[in-house]
Amino acid sequence: MKVLVINGPNLNMLGVREKGIYGTKDFQDVCDYIKEEGQKRNIDIKLFQSNIEGEIINEIHKAYYEKYDGIIINPGAYTHYSYAIMDAIKAVNIKTVEVHLSNIHAREEFRHKSVIAPACIGQICGFKELGYAMAMEAIMQCTMDN
Ligand code: DQA
Repeated sequence: MKVLVINGPNLNMLGVREKGIYGTKDFQDVCDYIKEEGQKRNIDIKLFQSNIEGEIINEIHKAYYEKYDGIIINPGAYTHYSYAIMDAIKAVNIKTVEVHLSNIHAREEFRHKSVIAPACIGQICGFKELGYAMAMEAIMQCTMDN
């Protein structure tokens, strides 16, 4: 099984940015964790990070042509306003799980709404990097069900 893991804007700054909210692990630690969790489950993981909306959209399109079975996306702040990323997920029709390190529902009002979530099979938030492993489980389970 092939799963694309996309991390959006500012996630490359983990370990530096707002440690009280996002934890002290740096981005490389989180990437290593995601890779390990993928290996445990026999999932071929491709990691992609970008601070640029169009690059994220291009990568989602590529996942279609490269026949990915699932996408795990932490869209960062794009979560709250990128209709273009939502449309891209709908366009490729690949099972996608939205992940957030923090509990967006316990934070500022503008973070409570995700415009991406309606295009996804589900949303996981508030469990730091564990959320990526939970998303892998969800994609595996939903793929078996179909
Ligand atoms: C985030 C939550 C977003 O609201 C924020 O803009 C981020 C990170 C998270 O993982 O908790 O950049 O997606």
